[in-house]
Amino acid sequence: MTEHPHPGRVRPRRLRATPAMRRLVGEVDVQPRQLVLPLFVREGLAEPRPIASMPGVVQHTLESLPAAVAQAADARLGGVMLFAVPELRDATGTQATASDGILNRAIAVAAREAGGALVVQADLCLDEFTDHGHCGVLTADGRVDNDATLTRYAEMALAQAAAGADLVGLSGMMDGQTGVVRDALDQAGADEVAVLAYAAKYASAFYGPFRDAVESQLEGDRRTYQMDPANRREAAREVAIDVAEGADVVMVKPALAYLDVLADVAASSPVPVAAYAVSGEYAMIEAAAAAGWIERERAIRESVLSIRRAGADHVLTYHATELAGWLAEEYR
Ligand code: PBG
Repeated sequence: MTEHPHPGRVRPRRLRATPAMRRLVGEVDVQPRQLVLPLFVREGLAEPRPIASMPGVVQHTLESLPAAVAQAADARLGGVMLFAVPELRDATGTQATASDGILNRAIAVAAREAGGALVVQADLCLDEFTDHGHCGVLTADGRVDNDATLTRYAEMALAQAAAGADLVGLSGMMDGQTGVVRDALDQAGADEVAVLAYAAKYASAFYGPFRDAVESQLEGDRRTYQMDPANRREAAREVAIDVAEGADVVMVKPALAYLDVLADVAASSPVPVAAYAVSGEYAMIEAAAAAGWIERERAIRESVLSIRRAGADHVLTYHATELAGWLAEEYR
């Protein structure tokens, strides 16, 4: 051990002594523009419906959606990410590509309300639309058919672009999805529509409450297409493929349990990196806070700050609008 000749001289605590000093030396922060709010729309509802496992989050109707979008815009968020639940599901997810399908209608409503103030984003995946709940179409013997699914994703991208999406979020984890969607958009003249690739999306238990939110029909799991939680190096491979295929933004998902992966991706990605604080992360905070076991606001702030510190440029979180409200108080 080296004896320090002046034990009192080097004192990191000086920089923690007052709120003003801590504010001056903070390495990262969270700004509303870095937050994206996921929103759910459910076809056939008369009123917004609470999601039991996500207290405070609802399934919107097309009528209640504009107010949520307006709040997000007022809060100066970076964007909204839309998910929708159709009344009718079938083997190929027909409603995903119907121009009057619920997601495409929701995109149009949100785009009109946002009026350019938000990046209107849409989930591009088939799981809400298929009667078996998988993210793709199935082969005769029940496996997820990668290349047949790509055809559906290309069609879905065109429907979402036509509805007015600024950015499509490819969450299905099919090989080749980014390139196929990029080509389809470009050939249709929709070259201004951005592609966010869920590049490193893990097969995670933390999506549990989301499955309630979209009334998922899935039996079994998604381990033949989503990544194995054991794998860190593989994320770099997925990101490299998506970037090569033309991804404008790449994502790591979930967030908190994968901060090592996020830090790796942020260190090497040539494009912006998003992270998704998923439904289970939301539910854990809400449940513990409701029980009085953690301080709700501090836990929300700390978790999003940690995701930023690990390197995310922007964060999808169900707390986005509320968190942005707290941040606005600070900046005043
Ligand atoms: C697939 C999709 C999922 C989520 C976002 N997009 C579910 C899944 O992969 O099973 C999960 C988001 C969350 O848990 O908050 N369309």
